[in-house]
Amino acid sequence: MQLVSGGASQRLTEKIGAELGVEPLRRELSRFPDGEIHVELSGDVRDEDVYLVQSTGPPVQEHLAELILLADAAYRAGAARLNAVIPYLAYARQDRRTAPGEPVALRVVADLLSASHVHRIVVVDPHTPDVESIFSVPVETTTAVPDLAEALAAALDGPAVLVAPDLGAAKLAEVYAAHLGLEVAIVRKTRVSGDEVQTTGLIGDVTGRTPVVIDDIVATGGTIASAVRVLLDAGASAPVMVAATHCLLVGPAEERLSQVPIGRLWTTDSLVVEPRELTVEVISLAGRLAEVVRRLHAGEPLAELALHR
Ligand code: R5P
Repeated sequence: MQLVSGGASQRLTEKIGAELGVEPLRRELSRFPDGEIHVELSGDVRDEDVYLVQSTGPPVQEHLAELILLADAAYRAGAARLNAVIPYLAYARQDRRTAPGEPVALRVVADLLSASHVHRIVVVDPHTPDVESIFSVPVETTTAVPDLAEALAAALDGPAVLVAPDLGAAKLAEVYAAHLGLEVAIVRKTRVSGDEVQTTGLIGDVTGRTPVVIDDIVATGGTIASAVRVLLDAGASAPVMVAATHCLLVGPAEERLSQVPIGRLWTTDSLVVEPRELTVEVISLAGRLAEVVRRLHAGEPLAELALHR
């Protein structure tokens, strides 16, 4: 097997490699003066199973282009099978048209990866379970929920309630509930624009309990910040706990999240974030992804490592 990292996931790939006892292949990533991306693999991948690790967080287009160029490079160098390990899969929130003039962007990404000869993709807590039906190659989905739930369980002291900050997160909240044995409340949210949301109410009782808001993604922080306000208005105890697999923290996220009482915020290293004001506790996906890669390579089932929702 050969491990190759894109520019977005170098540290994570090194950690996965350390777990597996595999040194990531050397590769060069550079830019031509006009901005085009140039990639070059050093070392032999002929007849090898290649695992390309690349999250597609910001700058999204650059990281996506690196991934498909690395895949094509490995294909042309004779790799036997190409596995794209994409801890954070961009465009998964554009899995359907919400207006007549829009594309199905996730489908375009799926086609790009197939055209780059990727045989299989591995994703962590993707925004939509439809990833599996949209991609024409097999999709293996793993989850950070058990690791995040373990951190939450160790930190919680007293009555608590899980909170899905919108209807879309309700199923994920149920997965957390199965680990933590807590009740689930749901915030009713409407998205006004890419960075604005409106909350219209709360389903469930949070009075006097510590809310644990869970989500797949924190992007501009609007969803979490509005949920926290609704929860406090409904009589929940402050501070609020937050867990989200992917922390993009773009635009006004830090400012928004600093303005509401968040006690602790857990995430994973699916993305590299270096907040200036916010304290984020990062749980590594390395052990989990290493075991996923080991099992896929050995032809073993992912079993408990797979996300079922
Ligand atoms: C949306 O349905 C997702 O699950 C997240 O709630 C959303 O992407 C978070 O975005 P933001 O932080 O910009 O509100």
